[in-house]
Amino acid sequence: MALSALRRDRYALYEAAVQGVEHDLQFIERVYRRHNGRPPRLLREDFCATALLACEWVARGRDHHALALDLDPAPLAWVRRHRLPYMRAAADRLQLLKRDARSVTKPRSDVLVALNFSYWVFQTRAELIGYFRKTLASLTPGGMMFANAFGGTEAMEAISETRRIDASQGPDGGRIPGFTYVWEQQHFNPIDHHLISHIHFRFRDGTMMRRAFTYDWRLWTLPEIRDCMLEAGYRAVDIYAEGWDEAHHRPDHIYRRREKFENQLGWLAVIVGRTKR
Ligand SMILES: C[S@@+](CC[C@H](N)C(=O)[O-])C[C@H]1O[C@@H](n2cnc3c(N)ncnc32)[C@H](O)[C@@H]1O
Repeated sequence: MALSALRRDRYALYEAAVQGVEHDLQFIERVYRRHNGRPPRLLREDFCATALLACEWVARGRDHHALALDLDPAPLAWVRRHRLPYMRAAADRLQLLKRDARSVTKPRSDVLVALNFSYWVFQTRAELIGYFRKTLASLTPGGMMFANAFGGTEAMEAISETRRIDASQGPDGGRIPGFTYVWEQQHFNPIDHHLISHIHFRFRDGTMMRRAFTYDWRLWTLPEIRDCMLEAGYRAVDIYAEGWDEAHHRPDHIYRRREKFENQLGWLAVIVGRTKR
């Protein structure tokens, strides 16, 4: 396979290192179907950046439609240049919108997705509840909002963790050679849970792309997020957390609905807000 022109492109590297949209969509469909007895059709992806999830959704069939929202025109231009040309008719089922996620969109969506903690840019209760009110007003009866969260004892520490990422295929079909992904939590303030983090990429030749992305977030806890969703008017809020694989000493990547789980060094959870039917 020829090398991808995007092998040192920060958006392509982010997708390869961080996103697992097939797994995400499988989970979203399973949960939605369990509550509604049918699959969702219209999906809204907030904080979409390169809209990988929304693009994968519309590629799944002619009755799959998506809206993808981001404030920043740069990643949206990237999607138009590097992904839409390869999507043929499916591209017509996607609407890319340069808009604040705190917008009400019509038609109403069946599912609304805010992944990789992006909604943590909202750092006060009033802002977070305000956002959830807008998402609720953008959902159909029976609609669901999916947002994820991380936590655990290491979430509040200044740490760096590295992960080797295998070679993969870029959006242009070319090869992105393996590289190392570095997640750095630079600073955490226990008083307001303000967390500054960076993503760096290290290449096989020893060179680095430092601070490819920087995040200025509030580290929200699960009970706070749940309370804010309920206060915004969601009828019910469920927490799904990854299980633990005892044999391999690592998360099993299967999200199950839970009322309780043991705190760990690090965990991932998905918060699902449900609207009235
Ligand atoms: C980490 S990226 C998300 C990438 C991808 N959707 C994912 O799940 O991994 C966060 C994106 O949120 C966008 N963003 C930040 N604040 C926003 C807001 N208020 N409304 C819409 N987009 C926003 C940024 O421009 C950035 O592209």
